[in-house]
Amino acid sequence: MDGGVVLESLWSKRAVLVSGKGGVGKTTLAAALAVAAARAGQPVLLVELSPDENGPSTLAALVGARDEGPRVTVARPGLSFVRLSALEGHRRFLEETLPLRWLADAALRARALRRFLDAGPGLREMGLLYQMLTLLRLTRPGGGPTHPLAILDLPATGHALGLASLPRSVLSVMPGGPIGRAMAEGLAFLQDPARTGVLLASLPEPLPVSEALALSQDLRRLGLPLAAAVLNRMPEDPFTPASRAAAERLLAAHGPHQGQRALGRLARAQASWERFAVGLDAPHLCLPELSATGPELVEQLAGRLVTAPPSRRAREATP
Ligand SMILES: Nc1ncnc2c1ncn2[C@@H]1O[C@H](COP(=O)(O)OP(=O)(O)OP(=O)(O)O)[C@@H](O)[C@H]1O
Ligand SMILES: [Mg+2]
Repeated sequence: MDGGVVLESLWSKRAVLVSGKGGVGKTTLAAALAVAAARAGQPVLLVELSPDENGPSTLAALVGARDEGPRVTVARPGLSFVRLSALEGHRRFLEETLPLRWLADAALRARALRRFLDAGPGLREMGLLYQMLTLLRLTRPGGGPTHPLAILDLPATGHALGLASLPRSVLSVMPGGPIGRAMAEGLAFLQDPARTGVLLASLPEPLPVSEALALSQDLRRLGLPLAAAVLNRMPEDPFTPASRAAAERLLAAHGPHQGQRALGRLARAQASWERFAVGLDAPHLCLPELSATGPELVEQLAGRLVTAPPSRRAREATP
């Protein structure tokens, strides 16, 4: 499918959640998408949701951004970076719900409360979700959102699902009050296909594709809208049908050979692409396996994504 269609389906959102199993290229893809968006004149906030909030940020390094934790930094024109932190989210939340700012600081300094807020993954994610909503709600002095589009690099499959199932579980025990209201807002945001879209990434091998198809079912069950899917690291196929047939004859005549493994990988990749494309009800695209690494890989992949100027519809300032 045309990469332009895939990008169009993403550029119109307020938040794109890059999701998929471990190691499929989520971080690389999130960075490449952000670079492609910035090149196309689409301002973007690249967001890291790291399980380890104190370690170095791979994502920041991939786009040459300064990592100042919860403070938004500008990596290049149109590309900002931020690292969500549960602590920051909890602080904002307490500031907005407690009558005085110093009460929020005092509350966060109380060891018992901090232990409580760090304890359950749910509460940690609640802080992350709250901080994300706060960032998306920011407006520019002249009106319009400060960050019209956020691209979130989710560290593992569980996080997209955790973020989406969290508001529901909180709402079931706390339907009212400030926490209930914040969660209802978060849930409405995450489940609104006009504002949120998941980009599901996978690799061109049978098991990762099966996992991606299963994940898409989980997303559907949770009401998280799938916006697009990318099969990453597609091996380059150097053959025409005729040269492939000749290569197969040659290999068959000479017994087991390295070349046979390469041909087998190509065949699996092609079959995986077909299953992926048929099994997912969303615009899809494959990206090639490249020899570059790090920021250079990101720049090259961004170049493979179509960078036609996006046609954004007008946005309101609320997330
Ligand atoms: N198209 C590509 N071509 C070549 N190498 C790639 C490509 N995409 C990703 N990689 C490499 O694959 C490795 C895993 O990528 P990445 O860290 O982005 O995956 P991830 O899904 O974010 O992993 P994790 O689940 O651990 O967060 C990295 O070394 C990256 O450079
Ligand atoms: Mg990653």
